[in-house]
Amino acid sequence: MTAVMPFTSIDLCHLLEERRMHELELLTDLTDEQLRGVAMRDAERPIWELGHVGWFQEYWILRHLDGADPSMVGSDALYDSAKMYTHERGELAFPSRSETLEYTSAILRRCVERLSSREPDPEETYSYLLSIFHEDMHSETLTFIRQTLGYSRPSLSTSRYDESLLAIDADFRFHDVDMPGGAFRLGANADTPFVFDNEKWGHMVEVEPFSISATTVTNAEFLEFVEAGGYGMKGLWGKRGRDWLRRSKAQCPRFWQKGSDGGWYRKDFDQLSPLEPFHPVVHVNWYEANAYCNWAHRRLPTEAEWEMAAGAIPTTRESGTNKPSFPWGNETPTPLTVNMDWTAMACVDVRALAAGDSAAGCRQMIGNVWEWTADTFEAYPGFVVDPYREYSEPSFGKKKVLRGGSWATRSLLIRNTWRNFYMPFRNNIYAGFRTCAVR
Ligand code: AVJ
Ligand code: FE
Repeated sequence: MTAVMPFTSIDLCHLLEERRMHELELLTDLTDEQLRGVAMRDAERPIWELGHVGWFQEYWILRHLDGADPSMVGSDALYDSAKMYTHERGELAFPSRSETLEYTSAILRRCVERLSSREPDPEETYSYLLSIFHEDMHSETLTFIRQTLGYSRPSLSTSRYDESLLAIDADFRFHDVDMPGGAFRLGANADTPFVFDNEKWGHMVEVEPFSISATTVTNAEFLEFVEAGGYGMKGLWGKRGRDWLRRSKAQCPRFWQKGSDGGWYRKDFDQLSPLEPFHPVVHVNWYEANAYCNWAHRRLPTEAEWEMAAGAIPTTRESGTNKPSFPWGNETPTPLTVNMDWTAMACVDVRALAAGDSAAGCRQMIGNVWEWTADTFEAYPGFVVDPYREYSEPSFGKKKVLRGGSWATRSLLIRNTWRNFYMPFRNNIYAGFRTCAVR
């Protein structure tokens, strides 16, 4: 079982309730019709998302720990994401808004009550943290579902963004950071409080010297590729990329469009806004990232390179044996170091947040946008599946790894070693990428 930090009952219940408030804030302004949404290949219905997080909590806390019976007949068929794909759920009858709210709130109440006046044992801590982090992931999901369906930007009580935090150093020049390579410990340290199985455990890898961009690829950079006709240059895309191009008929990133004035615009929730040249390109899939790299004579970093650029102290060869949790060290993320936790409610300039630079000098490795890596998601050596079996294992060999988190990721969830994974065709997640020099 995972080593767990001493979270008290009060911590766990507070986190559980706070996550739900956040989840509800992402839904509350939607009409019943919007809440029901439509069944898509890459976005669940918002109403399903709410039922699903409640179901997950009941499964891991009330059913798994206490052997309780499910509180809703048929809830497994409706809400278990391991059993059914998004589009197959299309025609199921969903409980109404108020029924779903009643179902999920009753479960939450029971989860809080069962910890009143006592402290959790390690197995309970595991189930509660699982539930908390799962809800974190789904609130990011809900945010990109709103983007995918073209709903308005949600308004959250946690967003209190202060423009002054966005100071951009005027002297910043786009550049590569040279990394010496060497032996590096890839993966989580055994003293990390809560670790999903796919990060276990840190193991030594040998990394060749490489150069990686200090910033993620910007809209302006990606636009050059689009305007050069990159989507028509078949040789850049690889076979699967070409299959995706043919199916999608894409000519540019999914939410981009060219205005009648000749300028480029980006659909951000329900608003069309001029492309921000210094913002990271976002909502591009792995094929688009890879094609851009081929066009620019660059390549995607491997996971090991990414983690080394984020976590290694550059002067030591035995880098990464005592690596920090975050690019800037071990201090908890703040709005000065990262764009996360919905504080900005959008991507920010790639030149901002210098205080969050890694020791090697890479900017915004954590937050703003997830970053595609070259690698397929695979088990680390000695992999042992966690009690939550459906989390990582079914995706090994199928999905691509992303690192770093986005503006819609909760900072408590993440650190340098955290691995996210999605199918390479996914272009509605908050994903961009940085590149390495080809030597
Ligand atoms: C790890 C974010 C890719 O959303 O598909 C949520 C997390 N698994 N419920 C996903 C997950 C089951 C997963 N990601
Ligand atoms: Fe889930």
